[in-house]
Amino acid sequence: MTATTESEKKKREEEEEPEQVVNPWEVSAKGKIDYDKLIDRFGCQKLDEALISRLEQLTSRTPHVFLRRGVFFAHRDFAEILDAYERGDKFYLYTGRGPSSEALHLGHLIPFMFTKYLQDVFKVPLVIQLTDDEKFFWKNLTIEECRRLARENAKDIIACGFDISKTFIFSDFNYVGGSFYKNMCEVGKRVTYNQAVGIFGFAGEDHIGKVSFPPVQAVPSFPSSFPHLFSGKENLPCLIPCAIDQDPYFRMTRDVAPKMGFHKPALIESLFFPALQGETGKMSASDPNSAIYVTDSAKDIKNKVNKHAFSGGQDSIEKHRQLGANLEVDIPVKYLTFFLEDDDELEHIKKEYGEGRMLTGEVKQRLVQVLTELVERHRRARASVTEEMVDAFMAIRPLPHMFS
Ligand code: TYM
Ligand code: TRP
Repeated sequence: MTATTESEKKKREEEEEPEQVVNPWEVSAKGKIDYDKLIDRFGCQKLDEALISRLEQLTSRTPHVFLRRGVFFAHRDFAEILDAYERGDKFYLYTGRGPSSEALHLGHLIPFMFTKYLQDVFKVPLVIQLTDDEKFFWKNLTIEECRRLARENAKDIIACGFDISKTFIFSDFNYVGGSFYKNMCEVGKRVTYNQAVGIFGFAGEDHIGKVSFPPVQAVPSFPSSFPHLFSGKENLPCLIPCAIDQDPYFRMTRDVAPKMGFHKPALIESLFFPALQGETGKMSASDPNSAIYVTDSAKDIKNKVNKHAFSGGQDSIEKHRQLGANLEVDIPVKYLTFFLEDDDELEHIKKEYGEGRMLTGEVKQRLVQVLTELVERHRRARASVTEEMVDAFMAIRPLPHMFS
């Protein structure tokens, strides 16, 4: 081992809080995830009240429930995006999905629901990357299976309601080439292997397919990767909504952007929608009992919530009436914070449950209702997405009305 890698490794170990791991492939913590620590360690900014009220003023709309409740809690250069919008300048949105499973879970819906809100209020174009290549590298799946999953996932994404006149969905296996590939090479040449190890934690036994991937996720941040959309608009700023696990890719991207003469992409980042078992990780597609899927039936949802949702209620009714629930660890309340729109009702539930007048069973019952409605709405929307619509969203085409 050379002196550099030795010292990089040591630096990494010092920086790493062993009780908490967050990267694109793993999210785990001994206790609850400490999001303030993540902001510090990653070097992003807290999305504060001032910024949210500025957004409210600029858009003359009540901020999205994910903003009011602190679900989107961190950012990089979001203020610059608002500045641009205020001046009447344009920007575009970029988000994505790694198609590793047939069905999305509720956590996956969060960035897409939020991106739809951003597209609606700002009236801006959106590119959505399906990283079927990434999942081929990281999972035990064939290329053809990854491509099939990308197409299936595109249907769930379209079901979130994106405007086809402003949205381009692409899969890496279909789209990478041309200007996109040139930008990948420009990025690749500017990141050393040691830097990649520092950012992503690659190890000697990892295959080089993994090492080669980060530029693929980086370059949709640059308008010149999409000549059919942005030719002549090479300076268009980019805003990326995602959960904070994706931050490493975009730290790397922001590092190289100025060296390539491009804007750094701005980011707006969310917490993780927690597993049913509690807030030590993100809802994960690989453990069916940890997650609620958009394909779950009303009965599945009821069973999962009642059997597996970690409760902050007390063991006996007497104790519960006396002490109330511990809302800090209670998953039903947490889930309602993400998905119950009505601020007054949420406050009411927290107060009554926290002071022991409401029981866990009642809170769970309300949650089952809220989730069943959400999943049912999604199921209906997805059922109406045809193969032709998928082709239309994924067609390489100009979007003449993308800013109106
Ligand atoms: P993927 O498919 O793992 O996740 C898709 C999006 O969902 C977010 N996410 C969550 N959000 C809240 N709670 C959770 N429990 C949860 N689990 C996942 C992810 O952060 C992501 O925003 N490599 C990416 C695909 C990608 C991408 C991008 C994502 C390519 N370019 C640009 C965001 C922005 C992936 O596999 O995401
Ligand atoms: N890397 C992400 C994953 O493994 C998928 C992804 C690709 C993505 N591009 C993105 C997520 C942009 C958010 C934003 O899940």
